[in-house]
Amino acid sequence: MSSTAAEYARRNQSRFLEELKALLRIPSISTLPEHQADCRKAAEWLVARLQRMGMEHARLVETEGHPLVYADWLHAAGKPTALMYGHYDVQPADPLEEWVSPPFEPEERNGNIYARGAVDDKGQVCAQLSALESLMAATGALPINVRVLLEGEEEVGGEGIAQFVASKPAELKADFALVSDTELFAPGLPTLCVGLRGMIYTEIDVRGAKNDLHSGQYGGAAPNPFVALAQVIARLKDENGHILIRHFYDDVEAPKEEEMAAWRTLPFDEEEYRKVEVGSPELVGEPGYSVLERTWARPTLDVHGMPGGFTGAGAKTVIPARAQAKVSMRLVPKMTPAKTFAQFKSYVLEIAPPGVDVEVRLIHSGDACVVPVDNPYIQAATRALHEVWGKETVFIRTGGSIPIVGDFARHLGLPSVMMGFGLPDDNLHAPNEKFNLENFRLGIQSLIRFLEEAGS
Ligand code: BES
Ligand code: MN
Ligand code: MN
Repeated sequence: MSSTAAEYARRNQSRFLEELKALLRIPSISTLPEHQADCRKAAEWLVARLQRMGMEHARLVETEGHPLVYADWLHAAGKPTALMYGHYDVQPADPLEEWVSPPFEPEERNGNIYARGAVDDKGQVCAQLSALESLMAATGALPINVRVLLEGEEEVGGEGIAQFVASKPAELKADFALVSDTELFAPGLPTLCVGLRGMIYTEIDVRGAKNDLHSGQYGGAAPNPFVALAQVIARLKDENGHILIRHFYDDVEAPKEEEMAAWRTLPFDEEEYRKVEVGSPELVGEPGYSVLERTWARPTLDVHGMPGGFTGAGAKTVIPARAQAKVSMRLVPKMTPAKTFAQFKSYVLEIAPPGVDVEVRLIHSGDACVVPVDNPYIQAATRALHEVWGKETVFIRTGGSIPIVGDFARHLGLPSVMMGFGLPDDNLHAPNEKFNLENFRLGIQSLIRFLEEAGS
């Protein structure tokens, strides 16, 4: 069955893409202070787009960081209310030299649109907005009540939206959240994401001498903060990838056997994953767990970078006075960010070698979550996906985090439908991020059908 909104979307597909390109040209990198104005510009662009399509009360909601975007349309009496969520902020684009086309000059190539934010998350936000516009334009109304809530700090922990949601404003009264920020398990395979890992993102600061020193004059007497930091990092995990922080695994909740059995039926080729997706000589991680278990349902620890010291071309013989490491941990259900950070901090301080001062800071954190699947919205979603993709939906988790999803449940009591259309090889957070144009198109169609089904 094809609705008039679906036809409207088909007719307007190329303009929807042009709208996405306009948003992609705004470099709304939330973590970099020099892009603060760009974040606001992206938020204002979204408010204008929501106003144009007939959404009401479209406005910025100020936070201590980048603004939220809110709009609603609440005239479907007796129908449920959706809270549609996405984020307009993006990750930094470096290393720039690895991009085939510049990150903020969207380019179509081989059936994809390439740009920073193409799939994470501007393309998916635009799919939501295109679906809403299609329903509004084709029918003069929406099949259910809709509130739109977009944030500009997802990639930096989502503090502003967390505070807004925790204050439970009347604007967020809804029956379910529709989150478009995830991916399909495989091309052409309709997917709902039902679990996310949480995370804590930390910095370890190490100080040795009062300032940088000549390494010939002082080497042998002055402490080296990088060596100290390397020794600390080397003791965070054993050679099997098992994390050595005391009590780290105490609260880990294993998925039910039924869920893991379903994962074993997913089309997953570990060798292909290693070679094509990861591209490393070997995979690593805890023995006894499959790749999907290790990346979806086990906690992990990673080092993102170690700023400081001399990193220029050539050689400089210096003992740096300071070193830093950015270290994050992914958490799984039942672990809490506060407890895990306390365990991490006391372990790092305990194993730090003599001669240096060590400080451990929490930058941001978010809870893990699993969402309930026994509700009519998940059922409506699978019906809609079946109509558009012609296949049964698979239920997966992801190893990534979307901090606000846990808060939707905790503070607002909302189940989330995580319906996203990215692909595993879309290069999220990496050079040459892309969004498959067919997935953009089918994503819009799926969202239209889903809103129609949710109102039927
Ligand atoms: N959209 C991602 C989460 C995601 C990743 C979903 C992969 C599905 C597949 C989200 O934008 C993201 O990157 N989140 C950050 C959050 C963090 C900075 C708090 C992440 O997971 O690193
Ligand atoms: Mn995202
Ligand atoms: Mn992201």
